Amino acid sequence: MTIGIIGLGAIGTAFARTLARAGIEATMSNSRGPDSLKALARELGASIKAGTREEAARADIVFVAVNWTRLPAALAGLPDWNGRIVIDANNPIEPPLFKPVDLKGRVSSELVADLLPGARVVKAFNHLRAEILAGDPQADGGRRVLFYSGNDTAAKAEVAALIDRIGFVGIDLGSLAVGGKLAQFPGGPLPNQNLIKIG
Ligand SMILES: NC(=O)c1ccc[n+]([C@@H]2O[C@H](COP(=O)([O-])OP(=O)(O)OC[C@H]3O[C@@H](n4cnc5c(N)ncnc54)[C@H](OP(=O)(O)O)[C@@H]3O)[C@@H](O)[C@H]2O)c1
Repeated sequence: MTIGIIGLGAIGTAFARTLARAGIEATMSNSRGPDSLKALARELGASIKAGTREEAARADIVFVAVNWTRLPAALAGLPDWNGRIVIDANNPIEPPLFKPVDLKGRVSSELVADLLPGARVVKAFNHLRAEILAGDPQADGGRRVLFYSGNDTAAKAEVAALIDRIGFVGIDLGSLAVGGKLAQFPGGPLPNQNLIKIG
């Protein structure tokens, strides 16, 4: 299983750190190209390489963490998705105004999925602040909880296995329409709930 990351800001870097800590290989990319990620690659160690957006998008699981209004450009012109898994870590809001986007009654992940024809989209890694996600998932005698949701059971199982491998506890919230809404920021009840599962 290969992993690619598109967007290496706060949340993409936090995800990359969790992979690096577990020794999992990944290719990371941003809008400025691999040279701009050389220092981060050195810091993260041998398992995380800098690449192009296209290289990252060819992975079996592609983690996307890009500013909401830049998602169309970040996901344009990539190879056909052909059932590859995309983890949508995005929220429909962005600094500096933090003005909620009009989703026209849909869940933000459904709008992201529209940009990813043929991909199996799993919403995850979006409910905690980046500094908490980057930290040790073992805390207070238990493991930190991450939520995931999606419409494809097999894709969710692969994301659940990854969540487990990097030391978190995953909780399946159901479909994108149901779980995506619960975990969505703003609007859902789960964002910023920093939960630890004991035992
Ligand atoms: N920050 C958090 O605590 C947090 C928590 C949960 C969810 N989220 C969500 O995660 C997403 C990212 O947030 P962030 O805070 O990580 O943002 P950020 O720090 O501003 O980073 C955004 C990243 O997106 C990349 N990007 C922008 N346009 C691109 C393009 N056309 N192609 C490839 N990469 C592109 C940027 O690359 P360049 O710098 O090279 O342009 C940058 O690496 C947002 O949807 C946000 O709502 C954030």
